Amino acid sequence: MFRLSNNLVGILNFVTFLLSVPILGAGIWLANRASTDCEKFLEKPVIALGVFLMVVSLAGLLGACCGISWLLWLYLLVMFLLIVLLFCFTIFAFVVTNKGAGRVLSDRGYKEYRLGDYSNWLQKRVNSTKNWNKIRSCIIDSKVCSNLADDTANDSLDQFLAEHLSSLQSGCCKPSDDCGFTYVNATTWTTLPAGTVYNNPDCTLWSNDKNQLCYNCQSCKAGLLDNIKSDWKKVAVVNIIFLVFLIIVYSVGCCAFRNNREDRAFWKSRPYP
Ligand SMILES: *[C@@H]1O[C@H](CO)[C@@H](O)[C@H](O)[C@H]1NC(C)=O
Repeated sequence: MFRLSNNLVGILNFVTFLLSVPILGAGIWLANRASTDCEKFLEKPVIALGVFLMVVSLAGLLGACCGISWLLWLYLLVMFLLIVLLFCFTIFAFVVTNKGAGRVLSDRGYKEYRLGDYSNWLQKRVNSTKNWNKIRSCIIDSKVCSNLADDTANDSLDQFLAEHLSSLQSGCCKPSDDCGFTYVNATTWTTLPAGTVYNNPDCTLWSNDKNQLCYNCQSCKAGLLDNIKSDWKKVAVVNIIFLVFLIIVYSVGCCAFRNNREDRAFWKSRPYP
């Protein structure tokens, strides 16, 4: 029993340790070549994840294989906190992404998105200018709008209105329907004369400039939230699998910890060493 659980924890942590090397490498590589805000936005979490995995797996590896009890104890504590945190995060994210959906328009292939339809907590996150500038840079990097413009370059108005646009394309790449702009192509619209009063504040934010479009619109933020919402099911499944895995590793780790202590007690109580 001693060898089994200790060896298992050792092997699992060795694999995790190997995994942390390319993650850390990717983070450092990203930090050296990051040119856009989007890449800079990603480098810190990637490096942090790499360092975290490396330290925790080393603690588990040395704790289990070399019988260093305090390292194993630290490892189990971090694992326990991770399990609790992941569990809370899964529930929280489920609650927060429960609300909101695209609005169906008559005679349109696409839906439109209103920020007010989504949970207040998520609205606050995307309404922060600092957050939004980074997210916007990632949306521009992903080329959703330039791809849309290329794909629909030859569309007539009727063809364009029948397109099934993704939530980001609908929210970020074109002005809202109720602005009443005239279609030229997906990312070029003739706006109404200056001074026109709109019901929708997004209309004044629209620009035909490729780097502007509707990237600052409420509809773009809502489109992003809709994206997050629909990705959520996949994330939840992955999280639950990961949680089960963590709980198994944690249980095996507990066995190894107990073994370390019993081992020490055994050596201490031996009458003639
Ligand atoms: C859309 O129309 C504008 C103005 O006519 C033009 O400059 C632009 O290249 C067009 N975009 C595409 C993708 O065809």
